[in-house]
Amino acid sequence: MQVVRLAYETDFDGWRRAARAMRARGVAPESALWTVDGQATLFDGADEPAPPLEAAPAGAFRVPKTFMDLAPRVILHRSDERFALLYRLLWRLQDEPDLLHIASDADVARAHHFAREVGRAAHKMKAFVRFRLASEEDDAYVAWFEPAHRVAEATAPFFARRFANMRFSILTPDTCVHWDLAELSFTPGADPADAPSEDALEEYWRTYYASIFNPARLKVGAMQKEMPKRYWRNLPEAALIPELIAQAQGRTDTMVRQAPTEPSRRVVKAAVRNSRDAPWEGQAPTSLAEVAAGVDHCRRCDLWRDATQGVPGEGPGKAKLLFVGEQPGDQEDLAGTPFVGPAGQMFDRALAEAGVPRTETYVTNAVKHFKHELRGKRRIHKTPDAGEVTACRWWLDAERRIVRPRVVVSLGATAALAVFGKATPVGKFRGQALQLPDQAQGVVTYHPSYLLRVPDEAAKAKAWAMFVADLKLAWSLAA
Ligand code: URA
Repeated sequence: MQVVRLAYETDFDGWRRAARAMRARGVAPESALWTVDGQATLFDGADEPAPPLEAAPAGAFRVPKTFMDLAPRVILHRSDERFALLYRLLWRLQDEPDLLHIASDADVARAHHFAREVGRAAHKMKAFVRFRLASEEDDAYVAWFEPAHRVAEATAPFFARRFANMRFSILTPDTCVHWDLAELSFTPGADPADAPSEDALEEYWRTYYASIFNPARLKVGAMQKEMPKRYWRNLPEAALIPELIAQAQGRTDTMVRQAPTEPSRRVVKAAVRNSRDAPWEGQAPTSLAEVAAGVDHCRRCDLWRDATQGVPGEGPGKAKLLFVGEQPGDQEDLAGTPFVGPAGQMFDRALAEAGVPRTETYVTNAVKHFKHELRGKRRIHKTPDAGEVTACRWWLDAERRIVRPRVVVSLGATAALAVFGKATPVGKFRGQALQLPDQAQGVVTYHPSYLLRVPDEAAKAKAWAMFVADLKLAWSLAA
């Protein structure tokens, strides 16, 4: 038995050197035992010395690029089988150069399965790492995370880019990642006790999560799939989940009935905002993330002064259908997400009736800050004026350029003004496909809150039917 000891669990370079050397010497997969330094093996004491890890003679054999793309991902899997599986594939590739294209082959299928699981673990890590303030003096943050596979090092560059101006450490049981504002470094795995568990940010996260949680769109199964329970204990906001689920129905009813809230309920926005993400004035954003950050810092008009936050659009970056509303309402201003309040409920119901999956569309507003006036403690909606609509068009145009939808639906007159650049009355233009200069087609229809306001039941039913028909038209044009 040939025992190979790699330096650490994700030592891909070590594995590659050893595998090439063993392959060149004709060591068959059954005769190779792969282990990591410090791990005992059944064969301890009886192993042959590992081959010197020099490179195999040039030209001895070549591996396809697909293998070199797959192997570094497979090696991050927690399975003890991974080194041997990769060596078996490498061994077989010499006689079966097309092996990796045979999806039904057990080794190939297993390697792809490992790579997929690793990809999922990396995605979860990017989504669920939560930083806590570790040292106010040094402005340093720390997060504890237990990834399903050994993806800490591989995802580190993402965090360095995302939180470039924040000194942080991500502690995991495998490896700890450190960013000092200039470089990434790595140290051995840590104990959960090393991560501080309580601080002010925790409360902010919870407040934020509770405010963005939309009971009307609660899908417990989907939510638990996206945020599996194993991650919950690292997430401050997860403590709220059971309670929020229990209250969901009640909150939906309340949301529909609810009058505007008091400003004192505002989200503590500083906690979840990173000023360094803002693309500064003048630079046209090239991604939806830049739009989101930029909108929140926008000073193109004065509406930001009284709003909790800028509310960017929401939806897939390449949606075929883009909806434009007027401006965030009271609930949207608190949640930071469009159409989650009473108008959003109407909108969701009409979409469902029209057979349009909201999650496949991009939903945004003509104006990104909540314009309102205070009456007592209430924040009462005020229609944005033409100057505000024009100022905010910069963001809507950026969203349209990035998403490149086939169809843009204007919900109400303010949206139509923003989309067409001139007054486009709904009564006159609704129910038809209109050409937009950027090649997209435009559909103009009612604003969902108009449907909430129609007093007469027969008129309401008629407006509802026309609204649903317009949504169906838009969806069929987009398809
Ligand atoms: N009304 C809108 O126009 N947009 C929203 O996001 C909510 C209510």
